[in-house]
Amino acid sequence: MVTAGKLCGMRIHLSVVGAISFTLAWPIISVLGAEKPPLYLDTNQPVEARVADLLPRLTLGEKISLIHADSKFTTAAIPRLGIPRRWLDDGPNGVREDIGPDTWAPAGHTDDFSTAMPVGICLAATWDPALAYREGEAIGQEARARGKDIMLGPGVNILRTPLCGRNFEYLGEDPFLTSQMCVGYIRGEQSQDVSSCVKHFALNNQEFDRMNINVEASERVLREIYLPAFKAAVQQGGVWCVMGAYNQFRGQHCCENDYLLNKILKGEWGFKGVVMSDWAGAHDTRECALNGLDLEMGTDKKYDDFHLAQPYLTLLKSGELPMAGLDDKVRRNLRVMLATHVLDPGRKTGSLNTHAHQAVARQVAEEGVVLLKNENHILPLDASKIKTIAVIGENAIRLQAHGGDSSGIKAFYEITPLQGLVNRVGTNVNLVFSEGYRKDGGPELAKRAVAAAKTADVVIYVGGLNHDKGFDCEGADRKDMKLPYGQDELIQKIVAANPRTVVVLEGTMVEMDAWLDQVPALVEAWYPGMEGGNALARVLFGDVNPSGKLPATFPKKLSDTPAATLGAYAYPGTNGTVTYAEGLLVGYRWYDTKHIAPQFPFGFGLSYTTFQYSHLKLIPDAGTNHIVTAQFEIENTGKRAGAEVAQLYVHEDHPRLMRPEKALKGFKRIFLQPGEKQTVSIPLNQAAFAYYDDGKKSWVAQNDRFEILIGSSSRDIRLRDDFNLAEK
Ligand code: GLC
Repeated sequence: MVTAGKLCGMRIHLSVVGAISFTLAWPIISVLGAEKPPLYLDTNQPVEARVADLLPRLTLGEKISLIHADSKFTTAAIPRLGIPRRWLDDGPNGVREDIGPDTWAPAGHTDDFSTAMPVGICLAATWDPALAYREGEAIGQEARARGKDIMLGPGVNILRTPLCGRNFEYLGEDPFLTSQMCVGYIRGEQSQDVSSCVKHFALNNQEFDRMNINVEASERVLREIYLPAFKAAVQQGGVWCVMGAYNQFRGQHCCENDYLLNKILKGEWGFKGVVMSDWAGAHDTRECALNGLDLEMGTDKKYDDFHLAQPYLTLLKSGELPMAGLDDKVRRNLRVMLATHVLDPGRKTGSLNTHAHQAVARQVAEEGVVLLKNENHILPLDASKIKTIAVIGENAIRLQAHGGDSSGIKAFYEITPLQGLVNRVGTNVNLVFSEGYRKDGGPELAKRAVAAAKTADVVIYVGGLNHDKGFDCEGADRKDMKLPYGQDELIQKIVAANPRTVVVLEGTMVEMDAWLDQVPALVEAWYPGMEGGNALARVLFGDVNPSGKLPATFPKKLSDTPAATLGAYAYPGTNGTVTYAEGLLVGYRWYDTKHIAPQFPFGFGLSYTTFQYSHLKLIPDAGTNHIVTAQFEIENTGKRAGAEVAQLYVHEDHPRLMRPEKALKGFKRIFLQPGEKQTVSIPLNQAAFAYYDDGKKSWVAQNDRFEILIGSSSRDIRLRDDFNLAEK
């Protein structure tokens, strides 16, 4: 029985009080000289020694209680040993509002607001791993302040089809970029005595039939495209938790998949943390027990009837399953608790909604906004030369932070694009708002919007998608890539009424051929979080020079995309199975290799200044673990300071097996004053040249000539040079 109480503004549970009193009791006892605290409470001892000391103190029932939920987002406390209730919570871009202990309904609390960071794909568009660290750090601080122990993010599933409802939550279409960004985020979040939980492992790339769809993909595709970010999270990020995916892989549910969890994650990669199920992602007691699941969450049963609860206990007591298997699960859970100082006095207590957190939220939005078109330098706007701006579009006033389902945040506040513009221009410019469209809107809205456009000096149209189910939302995929609510026609009418129209899109990629040629400026803002309106206004008025680069290709039309080209068996699947028939050719790998022109290519993003690349040198790094270092110069040849993301792609001339035209293997974000020139170095190790050989079941970097391509986007290659790799 758990009851909630209040103690100096912190919500605690009586069971935790027991734990606190126990934990506090030891120092007092030890001060009185009665006896030393048990080794597992000795913070001077290494984690492994503390785990080894604590494990045998647990009864069988206590061990079982640690490997399954006792509410939607908790596991039971063990007050006798000072183990508090463990709190898990979503999500990737902030700490979710509290929900009822046994339902998904909001708990109706008034102290569960959090900072709403921009969504994952916006963070990815910054190409700034150091900023990802700071975002993770801020979310970790808010998690601690909200009493959370494990945060359920980042989401790193590869954007395989533009239609996946959760693309907004993830980090784009490229394994290398996703890897770099999630490692930064995890290191930041886990620096705050909180465990991250990288998700959803693995091949969870669609929402259609997500609980059951069986994914078929070759070993090479698995290794080269869908596993790298998880491997980086474990081996470079040191992530403490991994969440299994809902879907099946090769006929076995991912939350109880022997090959993914035991063989690869724990066997090959040496993962020592906790594998938890997605909520209701566990299906079979024996498979959960034997195939690598360490914590069962969200099963649609009474907690004691969870697979890893009584049913597992019964099999253990009968001797059908070995106690060693239980001990391994418990050891992993204890390891994560002790590594995040759950039992330790002095554990980080975090902070909420600080100016620093707000600043991180704003900076991620500012760096994640992508300038896609800017004809005749209509941007940045000069407020001193503008009397009236017509701000048109429902997304100019729509609150987005709370949407998207599990990643939604009850934000302390949310600056909408309109509010951001008001904050920026004050009374110096007359802002006229017209909604223009809405879900059940009629032509009257459009008429009024066009009239507003006619009378304005400039129009800022803010449209795109939203988090309604069927657009950018968990639990369903989009049915197409079209702009909803008649926006195509509305934009055409608006730009006809006023050619000085800046289009701002929120959400993930859409088809835009109906109006793109007529629109002089286009900005992708994704879902920019609670400071998003301020960030957008600062970009539009030039206080910030945009530097975002697309983390995913914007195709011209859905039929250009791999899955749409290959048919239903490739997406959304037939007879319960989806086959990743495009293989390695995901995202730009497809468009480049098939010579299909995208609307905007992977890695693309304009600036208010210009950058010149020169003097590429490939320096063999004999003796270090780098094979070669690409060194080149970048100069800011414009009049504004700004950041550029230089990208390095590798192409193999005569691969033994088919390889994509090129693949991202390095990038560097660099800030330059006007006229400033800097030398950039990007070291490459063998992994930059290797491919996974299904036959040899290993990575191979063959003796061949490679091209090193340096560019401002995947299709704007500025420098190139050849490199002969000796057989390794
Ligand atoms: C959801 C999501 C997962 C989330 C979990 C808890 O269904 O798939 O990302 O963390 O349940 O809300």
